[in-house]
Amino acid sequence: MTVLVTGATGLLGRRVVQRLLDTGQEVRVMVHRPGRENLLATPPADVCYGDVSDPNALTEACRDISEVIHLVAVIRGGRRQFDAINRQGTANVVAAAKAAGSVRRFVHVSAVGAANTPHLQYLHSKWQGEQAVVAGGLPYVIIRPSLIFGPGDEFTTAVAALVRLTPVTPVIGSGSNRLQPIHVDDVARCVAAAAGGNIRGSLTLAIGGPERLSYNRIVSIVAREMGRKRLRVNVPIWAVRPGIAALDLLTPRPPINRAMLQLITLRNVAEPDSVARVFGFQPRPLAGNIGHINDITFGEALRANLGLAPRR
Ligand SMILES: NC(=O)c1ccc[n+]([C@@H]2O[C@H](COP(=O)([O-])OP(=O)(O)OC[C@H]3O[C@@H](n4cnc5c(N)ncnc54)[C@H](OP(=O)(O)O)[C@@H]3O)[C@@H](O)[C@H]2O)c1
Repeated sequence: MTVLVTGATGLLGRRVVQRLLDTGQEVRVMVHRPGRENLLATPPADVCYGDVSDPNALTEACRDISEVIHLVAVIRGGRRQFDAINRQGTANVVAAAKAAGSVRRFVHVSAVGAANTPHLQYLHSKWQGEQAVVAGGLPYVIIRPSLIFGPGDEFTTAVAALVRLTPVTPVIGSGSNRLQPIHVDDVARCVAAAAGGNIRGSLTLAIGGPERLSYNRIVSIVAREMGRKRLRVNVPIWAVRPGIAALDLLTPRPPINRAMLQLITLRNVAEPDSVARVFGFQPRPLAGNIGHINDITFGEALRANLGLAPRR
């Protein structure tokens, strides 16, 4: 039987597809922008194209599928995009999976902090997506990762771009909130295992890396891995809000947008041992596993901070 992966060309999707292929699974990938399947290390033969707002495309995508892994979401955007893609798009995929009649399990990747909190637009839309999965009538596994890091991520890359450019690295807020960064390959391993049936029944599970690190500590780790000793300056949110609103309006890809600013000072942690307990392995720590940040050039760091980095 075949596993459908939506969002297959994204940061996580590429690793999930590779993991499934490496373990001998038949995979169908759903690609949003045609041609992006070339980003996959091993492009599978079974490729379909479509948008999660297109029910016909989703019906085709789900035909003869045994498991669905749904990874599509946007964090860049505003309330309208969050509602159309993270909430309604998820509901559309669930409906198509159920109608297909062959789907045995629905694996949905949500996010730590997903909750019925309408003022936190992204997390609220992720919670609404979860509700669609729970109500969808299929056995499900909802995985809520903390921040994901690895080559091509937005998170360590943005911190590294700041460290590269600035003699004193600005940190928004007190920087004391704890995060539990988890490597993208470790998240992919959990997602593929969930699709492979290692969890009985339906489950919602938050996952994170082995350490709960403050934002300040993460900046120090990134700087150290870049061979720099960095001073930090903590900047209050109110002081950066107008600048971020302007970057959000004026540049194609701001390093942080208004929705992300809502999240940056939140605690974002899972149970310390959930990956080991449920999936039977230890995720890797941040320190020692972010060599990719040293590839960022001065020009790339400048473009990233000016909101001019190319779309991934
Ligand atoms: N990255 C993190 O730190 C993090 C943390 C916690 C949870 N998550 C969750 O993990 C999942 C994967 O995240 P990611 O970081 O891999 O995201 P990503 O790199 O932004 O990838 C998103 C994928 O969704 C596709 N997509 C976007 N809009 C679409 C649409 N309207 N119809 C169909 N496909 C569409 C994109 O294709 P195109 O590029 O062609 O548009 C891309 O393949 C998401 O559910 C996210 O909320 C991520």
